[in-house]
Amino acid sequence: TSTPSTTPASTLSGTAQALVAPGKGILAADESLPTMVKRLARIGVESTEDTRRSYRELLFTTPGLADTVSGVILFDETMRQRSSTGAFLPEILAGAGILPGIKVDAGTVPLAGAPGELVTQGLDGLRERFAEYAALGARFAKWRAVLRVGPLLPSSACVEANAHALARYAALAQDAGLVPIVEPEVLMDGSHGTERCAEVTRQVLRQVYAELARQHVDLASTLLKPSMVLPGTTSPEAEQVSDDEVAARTIAVLRDTVPASVPGVVFLSGGQSPQQATARLDALNRLGVHQPWQLSFSFGRALQAPVLDAWRGEPENVAPAQAVLAERARLTGAARRGCYER
Ligand code: 13P
Repeated sequence: TSTPSTTPASTLSGTAQALVAPGKGILAADESLPTMVKRLARIGVESTEDTRRSYRELLFTTPGLADTVSGVILFDETMRQRSSTGAFLPEILAGAGILPGIKVDAGTVPLAGAPGELVTQGLDGLRERFAEYAALGARFAKWRAVLRVGPLLPSSACVEANAHALARYAALAQDAGLVPIVEPEVLMDGSHGTERCAEVTRQVLRQVYAELARQHVDLASTLLKPSMVLPGTTSPEAEQVSDDEVAARTIAVLRDTVPASVPGVVFLSGGQSPQQATARLDALNRLGVHQPWQLSFSFGRALQAPVLDAWRGEPENVAPAQAVLAERARLTGAARRGCYER
């Protein structure tokens, strides 16, 4: 019998591998409407359907973006939006050889019975929404769970509820023919040390992979989007921790918890500066050459913050802002290969 001939990105696992192809990673541009209000207010721009379209069109038409960006995560509005030239924004990406993805969670709400903790919602009707997104051209998806660290947080109730939802989402994504990015974010906020972050991240990832197995998710057709193992932002350690230590701690936790069949780990930037996130991704790749998974990125703020600063909503700043994105993408791509020049 002959095996069917398939190009890498024509199967789900092929799509997952294409997203973490050598030197490449993901641009997260899936900010919700309230988050876009905040991002644009920082540069003095009102968030309207039109300003959001102009900004995202700037990002997606950046010359050379596909050299380092394999996929872009979109928000629902962007998935259906037309550019100034009349083409749908996801088509512009696909035309440039970049895979369009979609954020499908509906954000976080307080978890009942667990004071101070959050659970991600959005499972109701998700099968139907996936069918629509697949028809609109989405090839992969993202769902973000958020875990707060404290002396007694996260609770096991919070970890279990979020892991369960992530697995339910991942199984539905694969049913619809999309690669699920599984994102359990352990927040940096707080005064905890690196050791506590490592402990919580390990607990969360163990639970997430137990749930994914229970719900028959094909791990070869998933990507993990974790936070790095870091001291809390107000911890005394925050000023001192080296990039190599962050990398070593992060790899140790991943080796304990992430099965080898997962093709790639795409880190979020989570409020680190672009320079910090890039330097730590570089350290991870210099340490991680013999790991079973690709170590890549799915950065939002670390790729976009300098671009917003350069743009400021002015049409004459589009080309300079695109040059800033191209340079940040080039540096991030270098870090993804472990050859970032500081
Ligand atoms: P940051 O890199 O800004 O954390 O954004 C990534 C993301 O998609 C968070 O859900």
